[in-house]
Amino acid sequence: MSDLLLEVCQVSKTFIRGGVLTGRRVAAVKDVSFRLAAGRPEIFAIIGESGSGKTTLSRMILNIDTPTSGKLRFDGVDLATIRTAGDRLAFMHKVQPIFQNPFESFNPLKRIDRYLFMTHRRFIAADGRLAPEMAVDEALHKVGLSLKEVSRRYPHELSGGQLQRVAIARALLANPKLIVADEPVSMIDASLRISIVNLFKTLRDDLGISIIYVTHDLATAYYVSDRIIIMQQGSVVESGDARAVLNAPQHPYSRQLREAALLPDFAAGL
Ligand SMILES: Nc1ncnc2c1ncn2[C@@H]1O[C@H](COP(=O)(O)OP(=O)(O)O)[C@@H](O)[C@H]1O
Ligand SMILES: [Mg+2]
Repeated sequence: MSDLLLEVCQVSKTFIRGGVLTGRRVAAVKDVSFRLAAGRPEIFAIIGESGSGKTTLSRMILNIDTPTSGKLRFDGVDLATIRTAGDRLAFMHKVQPIFQNPFESFNPLKRIDRYLFMTHRRFIAADGRLAPEMAVDEALHKVGLSLKEVSRRYPHELSGGQLQRVAIARALLANPKLIVADEPVSMIDASLRISIVNLFKTLRDDLGISIIYVTHDLATAYYVSDRIIIMQQGSVVESGDARAVLNAPQHPYSRQLREAALLPDFAAGL
């Protein structure tokens, strides 16, 4: 155990687009550092426009991509030392992803309940106290659904909002300490977005799960986050308490984002 849940230390990622010799280097993430404390669950937003490096950074936190330089540690473990299938499974128990398009996260030909049972089997070591039906039903209840509602149904039979809830329930089956959600509401009907971001608050408050909320949407970030970082072209330009930063942005880019975020909606808190 470590006092820190997540440490991102001077992380950079450079891609080479085109051939190795002739290609152009793209610095997607530049020297980013932040920390999440253990035992103090929070919603931490990574904010920036399209192309600012948010997905690249979240993929490194999920250990899907490796940094070009810098270090990431989760629960004191350097992600670069995670090599075996067993190490990877142990990491996935603790850190779970939620992606932008829930329809892409599920195989369209596979029934949702079967998916959840498969996930439960995979992570059963985490929590063997419940029978599969009970465990899956419990996870679905945490997101406002039930096994009865999704039983025998295929992904396309649910709305985007419902399916994103199922994706969150699936993540909960692993019993994670951190959820990394990359633009989780941007493909969801505006009217349902708030219920999903409210769900993140419930996960934080009732289950003690920290959430990294990646978004280009200042309004939901303002509403839901405890702390934020604002990224521009791979670099963090401003960071701190969400409301303090968004109410009085100091950096010109943050001010510009805030001005673009339609102040009347913003003031109404959505
Ligand atoms: N696999 C890749 N190969 C080359 N360039 C990439 C790759 N992934 C991302 N990039 C580039 O890195 C930059 C940041 O992208 P990304 O992390 O997806 O930003 P965001 O999620 O904020 O939109 C962009 O210029 C993007 O084109
Ligand atoms: Mg992205």
